[in-house]
Amino acid sequence: MTLKLVPVVVLISGRGSNLQAIIDETRARELPIELRAVISNNPAAPGLGQAQAAGITAQLADHHRFATREEFERALTDAIDVHRPQLVVLAGFMRILGNAFIDHYAGRLMNIHPSLLPQFPGLNTHARALAAGVAEHGATVHFVTRDVDAGPIIIQARVSVRPEDTPNSLATRVLDQEHRIYPLAIRWFAEGRLTVREGEVLLDGRRQPQDQTHVQA
Ligand code: GRF
Repeated sequence: MTLKLVPVVVLISGRGSNLQAIIDETRARELPIELRAVISNNPAAPGLGQAQAAGITAQLADHHRFATREEFERALTDAIDVHRPQLVVLAGFMRILGNAFIDHYAGRLMNIHPSLLPQFPGLNTHARALAAGVAEHGATVHFVTRDVDAGPIIIQARVSVRPEDTPNSLATRVLDQEHRIYPLAIRWFAEGRLTVREGEVLLDGRRQPQDQTHVQA
């Protein structure tokens, strides 16, 4: 039986470690997807080289070249849609996206955020988690909606905060978890197992119990 692969486009801005995790699992045939393109808004993003090294089309959509966010996002949409993706994956894509873009990809736009949303939306999440003195921190994969860092949650992973933690040490442990849960969320999507009902993500038609969405590190 030939498995139909789900076409995916990944958007990045920098390092690309989540992209690499997705590439590795795709190559290991753990993910029934076809990585059609990686697009960066940043010409210096190391992730572009990783895509090329993996034989994936790597493209630049430099936001500095456009006068307005609307123009940039129209060009980005065109660049994405040429590849006819069923899923668009934000993997460290550091631009706030407008409503037209988000609506265009409704239900097929995923993001990973380095905190246990709804805690710590926005930037510098690890330092903020330490400053707040939380006992647990983590990462969240979610569908993107108009509210920044607030769409329906697909999966979360949590790590315990240690007394000796710095933002860097905490970030390292959270990132390990990101590399585990992002490919898993993409696999669930590609296998057609995710639906959203009333703002909540169902896996195989069922609500996910807390102990499944929150996988202890
Ligand atoms: C990750 O921490 C991700 O959660 C956040 O941006 C970072 C990207 O890292 N959205 P990388 O480029 O995947 O290494």
